[in-house]
Formats: sequence, structure tokens, C-alpha cells
Amino acid sequence: MKPPAAYPKIVASTGRALLDVVRGCTFDDFILRPQKSIVARRDPAAIDLSCRLSRRIVLNRPIVSANMDTVTRAPMAIVQAEEGGIGIIDRGFRPGEIEPQVREVEKVKRAQHGVIADPYRIAPEASLEEAAAMMARSRVGTLVVADVDGRLQGILTNRDIRFVPKGATRVAERMTPRDQLVVHEGPVTPEEAERLMVRRKIKKLPLVDATGRLLGLVTSRDISRQRQLPFATRDAHGRLMVGAAIGATGDYLERAAELIKAGVDVLVIDIAHGHSMVMQRAMEQFRKRFGDVEVIAGNVATAEGARFLIDLSADGIKVGIGPGGGCTTRMTTSFGVPQVQALVECRLAVGDSAVGVIADGGIKRHGALALALLFGGDSTMLGSAFAGTEEAPGEVVHKSVLLPESGKSVKVPFKVLRGMASIEAIRDRLDVEDADKVELEEIGAEGMEVSVPARGSARTIVREMVKHLCSSISYGGAGSLAGLREAFWKDPSAFVIKQSDSGRRESYDRG
Ligand code: XMP
Repeated sequence: MKPPAAYPKIVASTGRALLDVVRGCTFDDFILRPQKSIVARRDPAAIDLSCRLSRRIVLNRPIVSANMDTVTRAPMAIVQAEEGGIGIIDRGFRPGEIEPQVREVEKVKRAQHGVIADPYRIAPEASLEEAAAMMARSRVGTLVVADVDGRLQGILTNRDIRFVPKGATRVAERMTPRDQLVVHEGPVTPEEAERLMVRRKIKKLPLVDATGRLLGLVTSRDISRQRQLPFATRDAHGRLMVGAAIGATGDYLERAAELIKAGVDVLVIDIAHGHSMVMQRAMEQFRKRFGDVEVIAGNVATAEGARFLIDLSADGIKVGIGPGGGCTTRMTTSFGVPQVQALVECRLAVGDSAVGVIADGGIKRHGALALALLFGGDSTMLGSAFAGTEEAPGEVVHKSVLLPESGKSVKVPFKVLRGMASIEAIRDRLDVEDADKVELEEIGAEGMEVSVPARGSARTIVREMVKHLCSSISYGGAGSLAGLREAFWKDPSAFVIKQSDSGRRESYDRG
């Protein structure tokens, strides 16, 4: 992994002056002055958008899907990582239900590989029935056959067992035995593996050590996926990266332990108010038990809150109290910070240190991505923007919508987005279906459930966002995200226009 692009150094007086400008403001209050463009084409393949997610994780695209139970499970996390961002699997499972979240992480980690270090394996004396069951369960069409000592005996594919009576037949009778396989001894680079697979016309390459013990498996599918998705966020083994949220109380440490075992790349300890004693205890316990495992903490929206999390040794911080689409915190408590002020405050607190700032919530139009990334975010986290997509959990429901022009009613497909602190999400987490109404009201919801139009694949949305961000970079007179940030922070006044009410209407009101 290449080193993360550091946020530019900010001159203290420049930072203070910008903070005065943005006090009380959010994305729609600003528009950016165009600069002389220096890029020949706004080509997402040529413009570097890489950024830091956290101390040790770099993304090629500054986009993170939110840990919400109507947004990120494995399908969303896979698309996000394939497109160069990352997804954070929510913890919206009932307490004690750690396993379902772990399974989501495992699905992402098994979606693609460089070398599959632990391929599904079966014993030669197992029955074909067992092999078929393992293939069905794991949705994998190739099993490596190994003896009790882990020595490679052969390979069994779904074609080998098709149309064969399963009852009494053993795996050893149908597998391609080791002496007919092309096998590589020792570790292999993807390039070497590809060369060998092309030369020997094979699709699977088992790796063994000098004693014949299985070290891993390389597949041609994985190699071509790596090529097709050059910006994907991958770990050192070529697997997609994924994060998972654990909360700050209850089963969070046990949850973290299981998620780490499953190969999660970063954990997120997020609570509504991250500048709190609850967070302090959670972070201290986490570090005591898991050492330097990558962890993002949040949410905060003030310089004091940001410094607090840095002092607790967070590798990344989530910034945003109240801007989220499914969020009612500001209405119900009158606390929060308009998101641009929050970002500038937190950026000034973090400086150019290695801690990643994630601008979390309130990004409703693609143009706001550039603002979030310039005013302080290393990356951005989005929930509502991805909520109606095919990869988001939940069913599509059709609702009647009245067309104002014709007065006719049409059926429109919707999906649900719900705040993680909404009554609906809390009820599901707590399993309080039977609790009486008063008890539920005592919970004090700070979120709500909203319907969002169903809107195709998240992949299309990410790609459009990325294109628009490249256009922002071109308008900003830079050749990369890092370059645009440098120019912006050198002289924010050359970029920042605070809009009048009519300016804002002219910019954003349509229809
Ligand atoms: P967007 O605007 O992209 O924001 O939908 C996603 C972020 O919203 C936050 N979130 C909540 N905030 N009550 C809140 O105060 C809630 O119930 C809630 N649910 C989600 C969260 O930070 C998410 O990433």
C-alpha cells in the first residue's frame, strides 16, 4: 500500500480566519470560485483521488458507506471496496448476535483474493454428498482435497460431481489427483501466477510447501478481478478491505475479538456523542485488549472533541453531530454543529497528523463531496445517498405518489432509510417487539425512518460521484485531490464564496 496523502499543513492564522467565515454554516452556504484548469481530461483513471481513511489505511476514492442497518452489509461493502472506498458493516444486530455481523465481514473478505490462504478444503475419504453440501454452503465451486496433515491430494470441482450418484462415492474417486495438477511450490506473486496459468492453460493453481502441505490457492477469476478493478481497496493478501462498527458498551469487546478473527481491517467505535466518558472507557479497554488494531472513533463535532479522541489514540475520527439524513438530534436536543464549521474545527485540531478525519453525514448532492474534503475531511461517509440502492439491505416497496401536474397517482419504488437511533432501529436491536409503548418512548430516539426512491446500483452512484469530484478538481485548477487541498488551504479566500440567500437559490433550487 502506498503511503497516505497527508493533509496539507495549515498556517494558524489562515485556519482561524476560515473558522470565522464558516461559523454556523454548512455545505449549502458555500460555493467555490473556479480557477484556471490544468487537466486535459477529467478522467477518473488519471486523476489521483487517494486519501487517508485512518492512520494506516489508504483509499483510492474518498468514499465510505455508513454503518447503518439500511445501508451497509456485505453486498454494499463489496461494491464500495471494489470501487476504491470502503464499507463499514453496522452492528444493528441484536445483542449477543455477533455471528451475523462476523458472517458479513467474512463474505467481504472471501469475495476476492490474491492468494486464497485458507481455501475450502475436504478430505479424500469424504463423500460426494458432503462435498456437494460444502459447495452449496460456501457457494464455492472448487474444493481443495487435503489429508489430515494438510497435504494436497487433489482438486474437486462442481463439474466432477455433476450427474454422479453421490451416496457411496468418495471424493478421492472423482477428484483430479495431485499428480495430474500443476502445482507451485512456495509463495508466488500475482504476476508469476498469471504467467504460469497462461502457459499451462489452467484456471486454478494450488500452492504447497516443500513437504506438500497446502499453502493456498490462486484462481484465474481472482487475477482477472484484480486487473478489472485497479482502484479497489485491498489488504496485503489482495482481499477487499472492510470495516465494522462495534459500539462502546455491552458486547463491544467480544464483538471486536470475533470481527478481528474474521479479518476485519478497521473497527469503528461510534456513539451519538463521542466526546464522553463512555467513549473514554471504551477506547481504553479496547487498546488494553487489542493493542494497535486500527480503530476509528466518533462522533464529534468540535475541536475539543477531536483532540479528546486523538488523545485516546484513535486512528481516525468521525465528524458530524446531527447532519445525517435520518437524524433528529438537533431537533430533539438543540445540540450539534453545522457540518462545515464542525469539519474546519476538527481539521484545525487534527492538523496534518496521521489521524484520518471522516466527514460523516449531510452530503446530499455530489458537489458537497468536494466541500467536505476541502473544509477538513480526509474522506466522506454517506448513508442516505446509498440507501435506495440494490446493494442496501431491505426490500423495495411500491408507494402511490400523486403527480402534481396531472393529479394522477403512480406507483414508485422505494426503500427505507432509518437512523440508527430511530425507534425502529433500536426496537430491532433490543428485541423489544413486545415492550409496551412507554418503555420504547423512554429510549429517547434521535433518528427517524424515511423512504428513499429505489435507485439502481451503488456502483453507478459511486462512479458518478467520482466523475463529479474529478470535475471539481478541474474547476479548482488542480490535478489531484491532494493538489486541490494544497491550493485551497494556501489561500481559502481565493476559493470560498459564502452565498447570499438568493445566491443559494440560484445555485441549488431547481423546479
Ligand atoms: P447521511 O446524511 O449520509 O448521514 O444519511 C449518514 C450518517 O448519519 C448518522 N446517523 C444518525 N445520526 N441519529 C443521528 O443523530 C440517527 O439515528 C442516525 N443514524 C445515522 C451517522 O453518522 C451516519 O453515518
